[in-house]
Amino acid sequence: MALDIVPLRDQHLQDAALLVQSRYRALKQPLPLLPARWERLSEIAPLLREMLPTSPGVAAIRDGKLVGFMMALIIPSFLGQRTAYCPEWANGATYVEPGVIYEQMYGRLAVQWASSGCRLHAVSLMALDAVTTNAWHWMGFGLVTIDALRDLSPVDVKPSSVKIRMANMGDVGTATTFGELLQKHLTSPPISWQNEPHDYAQWLRAPGNVMWLAQAGGKIVGCMGLSTGNPDASLILRDDKTASIVMTFVTDRYRGQGVAGALLNHALEAARNQGYERCAVDFEPMNTAAARFWLKWFKPATYTMLRWIPDKL
Ligand SMILES: CC(C)(COP(=O)(O)OP(=O)(O)OC[C@H]1O[C@@H](n2cnc3c(N)ncnc32)[C@H](O)[C@@H]1OP(=O)(O)O)[C@@H](O)C(=O)NCCC(=O)NCCS
Repeated sequence: MALDIVPLRDQHLQDAALLVQSRYRALKQPLPLLPARWERLSEIAPLLREMLPTSPGVAAIRDGKLVGFMMALIIPSFLGQRTAYCPEWANGATYVEPGVIYEQMYGRLAVQWASSGCRLHAVSLMALDAVTTNAWHWMGFGLVTIDALRDLSPVDVKPSSVKIRMANMGDVGTATTFGELLQKHLTSPPISWQNEPHDYAQWLRAPGNVMWLAQAGGKIVGCMGLSTGNPDASLILRDDKTASIVMTFVTDRYRGQGVAGALLNHALEAARNQGYERCAVDFEPMNTAAARFWLKWFKPATYTMLRWIPDKL
């Protein structure tokens, strides 16, 4: 039976929400800690309904049934480019041939996105099946961000003699210096990625934010900052029971000695005591040392992929 790709309309939204729900339930099986909220159609459907009037979308129909859908937000400037971005809750395909369904939906959307001047095409996918992620890689999309999560039990790191304390307003200078070092690290090759820099005087004051500092020999040698539900993370990890790690930095000569591990254990214990239910982090896979570190302790929940369309085409 042929697959028809048609504009996404109001009448498709209930089935689209069901697709998101079924993908989320499948994701929750290996990651039972994910919030219950996104299993509810009453939470998913309004998001789709709100997005529909301003976001061009497509529906994949086979034999009269919706078997896939995608819609995207148009972001005027992301990494300096007009971007079409499809969040993890705004796409789905059934498990029969998801690759083919996504290929055909992107085939249609790519034309729309190109004609509206979008030079970056981005999609976030629930970290479910390799078939779907591979289909996107094969369409020219590279992995740029992983959102991952874990429970709040301690991690089995090697012992470290660093002392950990909470940053206070007297540490704005230290936090700012670490923030700048992190920014430089992320914007330099081979990572070459841009994150919104923080104003640490404001950041440290904001409710729900905490920064842990690691001290060795009277010096601060590392830090880890956490927020309640990082607003830049995937929606499914953006809630008030999620302690989100938003910045981590260890000075060069103290790396590989368990400083980040000690900070992580301390942060997890504090999060446990504060009534959080899970811990999340987002990172770039091109940041290979960091990716290795996080993937030891965290499991991916979403993958964000990006494709760049050259200007001259
Ligand atoms: C990512 C980063 C925070 C890790 O910090 P770290 O203190 O070096 O991390 P740890 O020492 O706890 O663990 C790192 C490695 O050292 C090993 N290690 C841990 N304790 C050790 C010890 N006592 N002795 C020897 N090795 C040890 C770990 O097994 C781990 O091994 P791996 O390289 O195979 O993953 C650090 O590399 C960094 O600051 N990078 C630049 C900034 C950055 O990328 N931040 C993250 C943004 S998402």
